[in-house]
This record gives sequence, structure tokens and C-alpha cells, in this order.
Amino acid sequence: MSLAICPGSFDPITLGHLDIIRRASKIFDKVIVCIMYNATKTKPMFTIDERVEMVKKAVADYPNVEVDTYDGLLAEYAKRFDGAVLVKGMRATSDFEYEFQMNHINKKINPALETMFLAASEKYTFLSSSVVREMASYGADLTGFVPPEIMAEINEKAKLWKK
Ligand code: PNS
Repeated sequence: MSLAICPGSFDPITLGHLDIIRRASKIFDKVIVCIMYNATKTKPMFTIDERVEMVKKAVADYPNVEVDTYDGLLAEYAKRFDGAVLVKGMRATSDFEYEFQMNHINKKINPALETMFLAASEKYTFLSSSVVREMASYGADLTGFVPPEIMAEINEKAKLWKK
């Protein structure tokens, strides 16, 4: 059985993330969306538990997609699954340097681990969780940016969130 791990901080999940997860779910028998800590992102909007609930709502229609969390190294997490492949979206050359570095670090820790990049769909190349957090904090309309079923929750949280 082929298995993809889609890792990320998903703070919150965007339609760009969901597009990558959906496409991975067509290529692989099973996809695990793994919600993780990103040490460089110090001001989260949502707790890990809140993100899990939002991702679960967003992927509810994808039968071969599961949601998990891990608070250690991604390359260590992947060792639990024989032959698992990391799948990540690549939006633009600006993503490349970071992703290339992560790929090599992950391979140092887990040499068998392969990373596959899916080119982001054109309509989502500008989209990121940080853009969503910023827009939400100004009360902007998030239509077309985040899954509709979690939009109200993001707007509510943004009212309380201090940048
Ligand atoms: O959605 P993001 O924030 O770009 O995802 C980055 C993430 C969470 C996949 C990355 O920070 C990560 O792999 N975190 C887990 C810890 C780890 O393995 N770091 C890389 C080696 S230092």
C-alpha cells in the first residue's frame, strides 16, 4: 500500500493545502496529514487540537485521508511507516530553498525517506496560512482562501488573536 505523509503546521489549513492533499490522495492509497510544530513560527493562531479539528472537517470527504499529530522530528515520525513518502506543495522558487534544505536534513536523519513536490495550482501560488491569519485579523473575507466549513471559526478566533 502506497502511503503519503503531508506534513505542515496548518495554522490554519488553506485551500492551497487542501488542493495538495486532494491530489496526493489520488496518487497514493493512503494520505496522512501530520500536524506538526514549526519552530520558526512563534505566534500560532490555533492550538494543535483546534488545527486537528479544522483539518478533519476539511478532509471529511476524502476517504483515504487521515489526520495525525507529532511533536518531534518529521523524519523520525516517517520511520513508523515503511516506504512512506513526504508530499509537499511547491508554490514558487521562494519555497524551493527552504524545502531543499528540509529534504536534505530529513534525509540525514532518515536516509530512506523520499520527498515529492507537487507544484501548487496556479490559483493558490499566492496563498499561505500567514496571509490567511493576517487577512482574518483585519476582518477580510476569506472566501476562496480557506475551506468554507472552517471560515467562521477562523474569523471568530481572529477577533481575539494578537499578532
Ligand atoms: O507548514 P509549514 O510550517 O511550512 O511546515 C513545516 C514543518 C512543520 C513540516 C516543519 O517545520 C517540520 O518538519 N517540523 C517538525 C520538526 C522537524 O522535523 N524539523 C525539520 C528538521 S530541523
